[in-house]
Amino acid sequence: VIKACLFDLDGVLVDTAKYHFIAWRELAEELGFVFTEQDNERLKGVSRAASLNILLEIGGLEFDEAEKARLAEQKNNRYVEYIAKMDSSEILPGALSFLKECREVGIKVALGSASKNAMTILNNTGLTPYFDAIIDGTHTSAAKPDPEVFLLGAQAVSVPAEHCVVFEDAEAGILAANRAGMSSVGIGSPETLAEANFVVPSLAQISVAKLQELFAAV
Ligand code: G6P
Ligand code: MG
Repeated sequence: VIKACLFDLDGVLVDTAKYHFIAWRELAEELGFVFTEQDNERLKGVSRAASLNILLEIGGLEFDEAEKARLAEQKNNRYVEYIAKMDSSEILPGALSFLKECREVGIKVALGSASKNAMTILNNTGLTPYFDAIIDGTHTSAAKPDPEVFLLGAQAVSVPAEHCVVFEDAEAGILAANRAGMSSVGIGSPETLAEANFVVPSLAQISVAKLQELFAAV
């Protein structure tokens, strides 16, 4: 039986993945190289600092730590400008009704995001009240695929890992769920999320009944 749903934020509940992509692409442009949507898959679910390292590797560039901190801040300032304008219209299809359904039937709801901007996004979109626990980049020390963020989420809602299901759009996040000993549902394409137990295009294809049926064995 599934007793807790742990949600990634960017690309699962809200359409912020596009803003991360645009902000990184702008930085790459300024540094003189092209950053594609395919490259961007490697950054999904990955912390800001680790994302910058991957981006610089793609561009074949090296900087010292001080300069990297400045570049990460530049990207974040731009990203923050985008998310400042967000409202509930950017909640992804099916997300709100599924969150409501979980709460109605008593399934615990937790956030497991690498983002340090998670609270701004949850507040701007009105999603904050739907969570029993919020674990984000300000609470974690190890980035996905490390399971820390989801283990902390499960602990916060007092549900053992085997009764938790993680919803993720990033490969690193699915790996984190697997390492945490949790079930997983990939949101996106089966090619990029091959390690997930199931993959759906969006949360619009998910309901509590469907979930309990998919994970009847747990
Ligand atoms: C999420 C996104 C990543 C992002 C990370 C850190 O996991 O999928 O693309 O880099 O959060 O976000 P932040 O808002 O702290 O830069
Ligand atoms: Mg994500």
